[in-house]
Amino acid sequence: AEGEKVLPRPAVVTVMGHVDHGKTSLLDALRQTSVAAREAGGITQHLGAFVVSMPSGAAITFLDTPGHAAFSAMRARGAAVTDIVVLVVAADDGVMPQTLEAMSHAKAANVPIVVAVNKCDKPAADPERVKVQLASEGLPLEEMGGDVQVVEVSAMKKTGLDKLEEALLLQAELMDLKARTDGPAQAYVVEARLDRGRGPLATAIVKAGTLSCGQIVVVGSEWGRIRAIRDMVGQLAAQATPAMPVEIEGLKGLPMAGDDIVVVDSEERARMLSAGRKKKYEKDRLRKIEEERLDIPDVEEE
Ligand code: GTP
Ligand code: NA
Ligand code: MG
Repeated sequence: AEGEKVLPRPAVVTVMGHVDHGKTSLLDALRQTSVAAREAGGITQHLGAFVVSMPSGAAITFLDTPGHAAFSAMRARGAAVTDIVVLVVAADDGVMPQTLEAMSHAKAANVPIVVAVNKCDKPAADPERVKVQLASEGLPLEEMGGDVQVVEVSAMKKTGLDKLEEALLLQAELMDLKARTDGPAQAYVVEARLDRGRGPLATAIVKAGTLSCGQIVVVGSEWGRIRAIRDMVGQLAAQATPAMPVEIEGLKGLPMAGDDIVVVDSEERARMLSAGRKKKYEKDRLRKIEEERLDIPDVEEE
C-alpha cells in the first residue's frame, strides 16, 4: 500500500529438540546466563522468549521450547511464529522421538532448519552418527549436498557457539527478512501467565506493524486495552516492533500461547469480537469432548 514502511527485521529462531538434549543450556550459553540451572527440575515448561545481540551487532530473537512429549502443541505453535528452527540433537543420544517430531513441525511450517549437535564434549559423543541418522530421516545436510547447515557445539564448554551464530546469520541473510513497520499490528502470543499484581500478562511477538500502549486489542477470545509494554528485560517501552518479543499488560483475561492479537478501534468492537470467539472456542471444546467420548483418535493440532 501507499506510504508503507518495510524494514529489515531480526530473525525469530526457535530452539527445538528431544528432552534434555540441551536446548535451554545452549541458549544460556549464547546469552551467558543460567536459566537451565534455575528451572524447576531442569525442565522447560513454558515457551521462553528473549533477544540475543550477536557479536556482529545483529539481534536474533530466540524462543525456547520444551522437549517433553506432553508439550507437543506448544512446539507446533512455536513453529508458526518462527523463521528458523535450531534442531538440537545430543551427540551421545542421537536422534530421538521429539527430534523427529520437531523436524516434522518445521517441515510442516516450511521453516528452514539449522542443526546443532550438542554435548560434543562428552566421551560418548558421536556427531557423525547423528548426521547419518538425520540424513536417513530425510534431512538434506549441507555436507552431503543439501542446504541444511550442521554445527557441532557444546553448551557446557561453550564451544562452537560462534559457528552456530554464523550459521544462523547466514540463514537469516538468505531469507532477507523484512516487515512492514507502520500501520496496525499483527501479532501472536507465545506465552501467557497470570501475575498477582499485574493481572494477565502475554508475551507476544509482532509479525508486522507496530503495537502501541493504549491500543485496544483482541487476543484470542480475550480483550483489553494495553496498559504497559515491556521488553524481555522488564524495561517499559511505548511500542513493540516486528520480531521483538514483548510482554503486554492490560488484558481482561488470560489468553493462550498461539493466540493472535488484533488491534480494534473501540471497546465495544473488542467486546463483540471476543464474545464471538468465546462462543466459537466453547463449541470447539465441546466438539472435542464429544469426539473423545466417541473415542475418535485425536489428530494432533498444527
Ligand atoms: P527440556 O527443556 O527439559 O526439554 O531440556 P533441554 O533440552 O532444555 O536441556 P537442558 O538445557 O535442560 O539440559 C539437560 C541436561 O544436559 C542438563 O543436565 C545440562 O547440564 C546437560 N547439558 C546441556 N548441554 C550440555 C553439553 O554441551 N555438554 C554436557 N556434557 N552436558 C550438557
Ligand atoms: Na531439561
Ligand atoms: Mg529446556
